[in-house]
Amino acid sequence: MGRGLQGVKDKMEKATLKLNGMTCELPIVEGTENEKGIDISRLRQDTGLITLDVGYQNTGSCISSITYIDGDKGILRYRGIPIEELAEKASFTEVAYLLIYGELPNREQQQLFSQRLTQNSMIHEEMLRFFDGFPPTAHPMAILATMVNSMSVYYTDYFTEDFRAETFDLMAASLISRIRTIAAYSYKHSIGHPHVYPKRDLKYASNFLYMMFDSPVNPYVPDPDIERALSTLMILHADHEQNCSTSAVRLVGSSMANLYASICSGICALWGPLHGGANQKVIEMLEEIKGSKLSIQSCIDSAKDKTSKFRLFGFGHRVYKNYDPRARILKQYCETIFKKHNYQDPLINIAMELEDAALKDDFFIQRKLYPNVDFYSGILYRMIGIPTNMFTVMFAIGRLPGMIAQWKEMHDTVPLKIGRPRQIYTGSNLRHYIPMDERG
Ligand code: CMC
Repeated sequence: MGRGLQGVKDKMEKATLKLNGMTCELPIVEGTENEKGIDISRLRQDTGLITLDVGYQNTGSCISSITYIDGDKGILRYRGIPIEELAEKASFTEVAYLLIYGELPNREQQQLFSQRLTQNSMIHEEMLRFFDGFPPTAHPMAILATMVNSMSVYYTDYFTEDFRAETFDLMAASLISRIRTIAAYSYKHSIGHPHVYPKRDLKYASNFLYMMFDSPVNPYVPDPDIERALSTLMILHADHEQNCSTSAVRLVGSSMANLYASICSGICALWGPLHGGANQKVIEMLEEIKGSKLSIQSCIDSAKDKTSKFRLFGFGHRVYKNYDPRARILKQYCETIFKKHNYQDPLINIAMELEDAALKDDFFIQRKLYPNVDFYSGILYRMIGIPTNMFTVMFAIGRLPGMIAQWKEMHDTVPLKIGRPRQIYTGSNLRHYIPMDERG
């Protein structure tokens, strides 16, 4: 079995690769949910060959005990607990603790964790000046990535070369707590309002909403339904195993870059519209339909047109070939809370019509394309009052505990292997330098 694969069942079965009279036996490994993989870690050493898998569609980059997804059945569990139970019953900080430390916290552990979050909720006053350097049009994801990376400069007491030091707990709390302060300050800055300091007696989601929406002329009025909606959204986003941004965190972290820098890379990866940025794109697409610049059918047709770069945002997933369980929860959540608050948003009807049309269309049926988490999340963020260009920031706040958990798991695995894929080279064969005067 390859190095760093402790924890998987070593099956006695082997896969046999035969090539040019050479036979190579490759071990089969199996996870706790009976997922099987071929361990090719000795392939190059034994045969000189590498595997080619553009986009890593069939490649397991690590073994992990954090999150389990069965994409065909639409199952998602954090540390074994179904997402449906966590979304209904848990608090976001409990889920963060569960992901990072492996178990739900007991009362004492939860208290200590909350205390650390409170003590690390303010950002260094000098960092406030950074906000002045960004143009008012700056995308909040660019600001978030920059500010998170800047934490490497201000919170240096927390980081040491020894990743297993106790300081990890403080760094994790520092990031989880300060990311919401940074996000709220960037919003206040964008509307030209003074920032609002965090309050020690407020819970995680409430504190964020307070920093976003409180002002001397319009005090923030807490609404338990809205605060719960935000916690639920964050829980649903908290981890999703080896997706693009988490893999970025692991890859950057594998070079022994510090946690802040690694998380910054994950935030940048999340920004793209094929990933977390899809939540902003969905609302922009629904707005276009509402403004009659695009009909439901033309939207479906453009998404099917291979000559167009347009995709139906919020649809399709690399892993789910069934309804994304997070999208199912969010759709129901929107319907229930809208009814309870007598809140209307024409975009939800358009989204449902679009979903109906797509799910009846052969193109989507054959490719098993269903709504993903980004399809309905924006509609709920709108109800909470979050501006559209901050939706992906909200995704990042929610995803942070997962990224931290994955970074920790990687550093707890011995030995730490730097992530370094290979390639099949298709460029020129050997040729020589031609002086400028002799070039055609
Ligand atoms: N609209 C139209 N066609 C699609 C879509 C879509 N949203 N998604 C996939 N397809 C088609 C694609 O053209 C391809 O067709 P064909 O087999 O004829 O070439 C087939 O379905 C398989 O798609 P793929 O692009 O090869 O699948 P992938 O696993 O590489 O990509 C994806 C997954 C999520 C990037 C893609 O489904 C997509 O672009 N969706 C829209 C963006 C989006 O909503 N992203 C959020 C993902 S979930 C949350 C998150 O991770 O952030």
